[in-house]
Amino acid sequence: MTLDEVRRRVEAARAEWAQASVEVRDLAALEALRVRFLGRKGVLTRLFDGLRALPPAERAEAGKLLNVLKAEITAALQARKGELAARALAEQAAAERYDFTLPGRWRPLGHLHPLTQVRREIEEVFLRLGFDVATGPEVETDYYNFEALAIPADHPARDDWDSFYIDDTRLLRTHTSPVQIRVMKSRKPPVRIICPGRCYRRDNPDATHSPVFHQVELLWVEQGLTMAHLKWVIGEFVRAFFGPGYEMRISADFFPFTEPSAQVHIRKRPGKWLEIMGAGMVDPAVLSEVGYDPEEVTGFAFGLGVERMAMLRYGVDDIRLFYQNDLRFLSQF
Ligand code: DAH
Repeated sequence: MTLDEVRRRVEAARAEWAQASVEVRDLAALEALRVRFLGRKGVLTRLFDGLRALPPAERAEAGKLLNVLKAEITAALQARKGELAARALAEQAAAERYDFTLPGRWRPLGHLHPLTQVRREIEEVFLRLGFDVATGPEVETDYYNFEALAIPADHPARDDWDSFYIDDTRLLRTHTSPVQIRVMKSRKPPVRIICPGRCYRRDNPDATHSPVFHQVELLWVEQGLTMAHLKWVIGEFVRAFFGPGYEMRISADFFPFTEPSAQVHIRKRPGKWLEIMGAGMVDPAVLSEVGYDPEEVTGFAFGLGVERMAMLRYGVDDIRLFYQNDLRFLSQF
């Protein structure tokens, strides 16, 4: 080995470095390059090892050449590393940039069923007027559903309520009126309640009939109540629920458990009259049945259909829509 030969080898290594270093595109490649030139078995290490074969007088000179190259390569690696790191960061930042003008991801939020909304609204009107909410069982006895309401077994009015019987004495309640009986039997007057709930009738489904439907029953029993109070309460309800512009009308009807009995119509002038509820003064026979003294207290009651209210409110013309759970319908409320 001679000094010249070392010079040539250093130049060759420098050229090799120059070529290899321009091809580096990322930090991993740069590290591989560092190992290739400066690692324990790298190009420069081999060159330094080769110095031992030089005559001692030339070693210092040759060592200097090698050290210059090593310093060059070390500095170049350092600079390149800085560049590549900065570029990697810039690329990452570009890839992660957020566009705040993009529309957000839509997560649909559910809401209460329109019948539940309407039922709650009705409840709120009467809670404000001082009524309590009472409930009763959907599987009812013949006694509460009919007998106690002055509808004995052979009474023709039973035909008005086609019933689902479970056995000889139990049925799915056909209306919420039996809750009146249950409440009166368990409390002394005055009684001021509403009873919202599900009812069942053996009707074939069509645009205005559903075998399952909902009612809100109202009952007020106290001394001195008359038809005038009934009319006032219904008027308050119509005003609160439907808003201004509606008028109501009360006409005669028949229910075995009220005397006199009435039906209530409303209309938005000049529209047509629509029945919204059955009502009446609680029949003295019913008051006696629950242990009240009809000479001392009087009462009135009504039963209104929740579906009917919702249909009028929203202009829905087919009751079955409330039970089909079609989101195209439900999501409109
Ligand atoms: N229960 C009756 C029905 O389902 C409605 C009704 C009429 C309820 C008169 C009442 C009432 O409380 O007084 O057809």
